[in-house]
This record gives sequence, C-alpha cells and structure tokens, in this order.
Amino acid sequence: MSGLLIKNGEIITADTRYQADIYCQDEQITQIGQNLEVPPGTQIIDAAGKYVFPGFIDPHVHIYLPFMGTESKDSHSSGSQAALVGGTTTFIEMCAPSRLDDALEGYELWKSKAAGNSACDYSFHMAVSKFEDKTEAQLKEIIADGISSFKVFLAYKGFFGVEDEELYKTLNLAKREGVIVTAHCENAELVAQLQAKLLAAGKTGPEYHEPSRPVSVEAEGVHHFATFLEMTGAHGYVVHLSCAAALRAAMAAKSRGVKLAIESVIPHLMLDKTYAERPNFEGAKYVMSPPLREKRNQLVLWEALRNGFIDTIGTDHAPFDFVGQKDMGKDDFTKIPNGIPAIEDRVNLLYTYGVSRGNLDIHRFVDAASTKAAKLFGLFPRKGSIQPGSDADLVIYDPSYRGKLSAESQVMNLDYNGFEGMEIDGRPSVVTVRGQVAVRDGKFVGDPGRGKLLKRQPQRF
Ligand code: URP
Ligand code: ZN
Ligand code: ZN
Repeated sequence: MSGLLIKNGEIITADTRYQADIYCQDEQITQIGQNLEVPPGTQIIDAAGKYVFPGFIDPHVHIYLPFMGTESKDSHSSGSQAALVGGTTTFIEMCAPSRLDDALEGYELWKSKAAGNSACDYSFHMAVSKFEDKTEAQLKEIIADGISSFKVFLAYKGFFGVEDEELYKTLNLAKREGVIVTAHCENAELVAQLQAKLLAAGKTGPEYHEPSRPVSVEAEGVHHFATFLEMTGAHGYVVHLSCAAALRAAMAAKSRGVKLAIESVIPHLMLDKTYAERPNFEGAKYVMSPPLREKRNQLVLWEALRNGFIDTIGTDHAPFDFVGQKDMGKDDFTKIPNGIPAIEDRVNLLYTYGVSRGNLDIHRFVDAASTKAAKLFGLFPRKGSIQPGSDADLVIYDPSYRGKLSAESQVMNLDYNGFEGMEIDGRPSVVTVRGQVAVRDGKFVGDPGRGKLLKRQPQRF
C-alpha cells in the first residue's frame, strides 16, 4: 500500500495541540513534522483549516445482541460503517451470551459474526453471565485469545444478571489475571419488584420505565459493585452511569481507594426522561437502562466529565427499530427492547455540545472519547494517540461543517434516530483505518472487511 501524507492540519490529542504533517506507512504513523520528504506515489490529503484527532474509541457497544426476545438491528457491516462515518475507528463490543448459553460457544459466535464484516477495528468485553465449574478455564482461554476485560450485569435478573457468589468469583479471577471488569449497575431484584408493582397498577407505558429503575436502584448497584471490588481488590469500570446519585456512590468508593473508572454514555448527556414520556408510544424510542433521568442530572454529568471524574463517554449503542421491535412493548413497558443507538453520532454530539458550545475542553474531549478508553482497556499507544508507531487511525475533523442529525441520512440500520433534528457543529471530513481512507464527507468509501480483532494483554493496574 502506498504511503499517506496528511498536510497542514492541526493535530489535537489528549494533551497536545500543534501544527504538523503526518506520514503513514504500512498501517502506522511513521513520521510527524514539517516539510516531510515522502516517496513518489504518496497519497496526499490537505487538512488545512481542520483538526487531526486520533481515531475515536467507543468502549461500549452492542452490535450483535440477542435480547428481550429479539435481535439488535445493526450487523457488523452497518454498525462499523456508521461508527466510521461518525469518527469512531475502534469499538469494544459486549460479547453477551446469556445465562442459558455456554461462554466459550458464545465467544466463538460473536467472533464469527464480526470476522471479515467489520470495516473498523474492534475488541470484546467478555460477559460473565454465570460462573460454574468450567467457567474459570473458559475465561482463561478467552483471555489468552486477547480479551482482557469482562462484563457483568447486576441487572436483567435471570438472563444476563449474576448472583453475588458469581460476582465474587468473577472479580477474584479478574484480579488474579489482570483483567478489568465492566459492570451494568442496577439492583435486579428491586427492578423486578418495582416493575411488577407498576404493571399491577395498570402503569404500562414507556413513561413508567424510569420509575421502575429509579436513581437509588442504580446508586445501590454502583455501591454494591464497588463493595465487591473493595473486598477482592479487582479493578472495575461502571458502564453507562446516568445520574448524580450513582456518581456520588462511585466517588465515595473511589475516595476510599476502590479502583473504579466511570463511563457515561451520550444519551444520558443529551437526553432527559421527558423524551420517554412522549405521547403515542414514541417514548419507547427512548427506553434504555439505566433510564433517561431528570434533566438536572445532565448538569452533574457534564461537570463530572469536565473535571475528569467521568473517565470515558461511550454510546451503549443498542439498535432496535421503533416499528416491529420497540412496539413489542406496546402494552407492557417491560417488554420494550432497551437501547438508544448512537454509534454514528457520539463524537459529533460530544464535540458540538461540549467543545463547540464551550462546555468541554478539547483535550478532555479527545481523552474521554478516545485516549482514556485506550489506556483503560490495553490499547494505548497503539490506539488513542498520534505518535510514530501508533496505528494510523486518524480523524480529519471539519469544525466549520453545519448539519442536523436525522434517521433519513444515517448509516445505522434503524428506522429512527434518537437525536433527530439536533444540530451538529462539525463532522469528520476524512477518516482513516490503519492508513487507508475509509470515510470522506459523511460517506463510507473504505474496505468493508478491513477491521481486525484487536488482541489486548492483561494489565497490572
Ligand atoms: O438499554 C440498554 N442499555 N441496552 C443494552 C443492554 C445494556 O444494558 O447495556
Ligand atoms: Zn447495560
Ligand atoms: Zn450496554
């Protein structure tokens, strides 16, 4: 493959900002500087007036997801191309076999779904949905295959949700093996009881999803997980933290020395619970867990993001059509498939409502949307960085672009967009995947099967 030169751009990373050219060869960045001498035949991209960011990393997506009696809509092909159009060059997908499935078979199934079908690089967090005699040996095999993070669900009783004994065993194994454990933190029993109570009172609409999983239920989940981390010494990561109460529980744990990182997701930063209260069942589009919260929580999340208490911003991309899937819960909100898709829109929304509107420092933006995830999940400096030796995953970003998000123009394979009509103040002009152009001005132009499964090593935190 011929080399690629990106000229005249302003390089912006998590900690630096400067004008320089970047030369990429054999999938990696090989030189950064002024007036670089490059071989004849080099492809040249002029990035004048644009930012050059490291490829963004989404640490929490669901692409293949059999869940709540249906399957998520995106394939690895549509999901990865949507990711790239939005500037995400690597995602970490939840490999989520249920309690009824065999973990190793599940892992092989997820790998087979992605192999050859993803346009961008990817890895998996391996869900531990039960812990039986063979689990330790199976998980060690999966770690040896390059997966150095687990996922546990404290919610979804009987499907993904683990019992406390299983949680304890998972965290002990993780501690021994140098694996970080990501966790969905909501108290499953309380959710089940509150759902039953609301349904019995005839409260069946999507607006009752939030009252069935109030902030205290999430805060209890975070405290519960953190206490188990404290007792085992394992390193944890709370996914999709949605509210001030849960943040307080996480910060209290951190302040007593628990090794805990915090992720929030773009729907919780951008949307509040009034969206799930929209009439004519439209609220179903906005049903996810933990639920969208009262607006005042957003201010707290943005502030925590600014000051670094929130480490990363992901999406929790979980795409289910409004017609034919979300409407499975027309008469019972507990049957609405949970999820608000955002893999395509995360970076542009965070840039627009964070950086462009003066709510977020540009370096913190790069950190939260790329670099911190790379560091936490064993991908740094291969990903999340612009330096010689890093993969040439680059986002040439046009801050002068103006547009609106819409289902009509999106690449995600879905019949709605949860951020419909929202303005964006920038977008990727060119995106590269290991030195090859994959996106130009909102269109995927790359190799649909270029993505590789990234091998990640266990870490000593
Ligand atoms: O509503 C959500 N979050 N759907 C996907 C499954 C999960 O809990 O992450
Ligand atoms: Zn979750
Ligand atoms: Zn999720």
